[in-house]
Amino acid sequence: MNTVCKTIPQDPQVPDWGSLELAPTWADELDLTRPSGLWRFFKALQGERQRVEVDREHALFRSIPKYALQEFHSLPNGNYSSKIARGYITGFDRAMLGHMHRIRSEIASRVADCEAVLDLGTGGGKLAAAVKRLGVADVWGADVSPYLLKHAATDYPEVNFIQSPAESLPFNNERFDAVVVSFLLHEMPPKYARQALAEAYRVLRPGGRLLITEPSENQLKPVKLSSLLRPAGWRHLYFKSLADRVHEPFVMAWHQLDKPAAFAEAGFALDQHRDDIPINFYSLKKCSA
Ligand SMILES: C[S@@+](CC[C@H](N)C(=O)[O-])C[C@H]1O[C@@H](n2cnc3c(N)ncnc32)[C@H](O)[C@@H]1O
Repeated sequence: MNTVCKTIPQDPQVPDWGSLELAPTWADELDLTRPSGLWRFFKALQGERQRVEVDREHALFRSIPKYALQEFHSLPNGNYSSKIARGYITGFDRAMLGHMHRIRSEIASRVADCEAVLDLGTGGGKLAAAVKRLGVADVWGADVSPYLLKHAATDYPEVNFIQSPAESLPFNNERFDAVVVSFLLHEMPPKYARQALAEAYRVLRPGGRLLITEPSENQLKPVKLSSLLRPAGWRHLYFKSLADRVHEPFVMAWHQLDKPAAFAEAGFALDQHRDDIPINFYSLKKCSA
């Protein structure tokens, strides 16, 4: 098994995340060990959502699309603080009751025979790291939040993490055997989600695979009282309550998007689709041009 990562000359430079200083934002100043800090935190969770504050002078913040600078998931300053980003990495998995861990393991095992894999919207890097653990030599993760990327690089130094919007990737054509995507596309306006699919097509080799997991739209349907006689009914109730509470500005647009048509338009053939609460899964293959 080859575990040595070989970059090619045209690849983007991987920042030395460890030595990169990211300016603290107001959310870093919340002292969650004090009642006053906790009060501000919960007020932010329930308050009106706003544009997040970042250091626009810093090169790493200039390429972040405006639509991504929002308080996603109702988090104070969104994904843009060291403290909240760290809490989000663990909190997201806990809130998803083990489903994220299971789907990441499944996706990783489906691409374990590849040499080069890219994880789009990598966040804390857990999917990229799961792929790397199964022996894939050349694993990259791309995201827009420098705070999440710095945590990802600290936790998984064996992966190459770069900052890039999914809709405009700094890689050569046909660079990867597989592209994996976990809970990214529903956070993008459909126009940019389509561009991200087109970029995934461009960076995949012919016949390359695109594996996508996103939230299930079925969890938004009303919960039938009779379904509560079964564990699946309680699961539905839990995930519906969660989905109803967190701020996800583009999730309805994603649910309304005609996904099979969008995949076909980007040049992909749909191999497999599974829709379980709370997770939708798509396995796609790059068709020849
Ligand atoms: C719900 S999180 C999922 C993180 C990770 N994939 C996981 O499954 O744990 C969505 C991630 O997408 C990133 N993101 C949002 N818009 C993006 C874009 N245009 N390009 C790349 N990443 C983006 C966010 O910064 C965040 O890390």
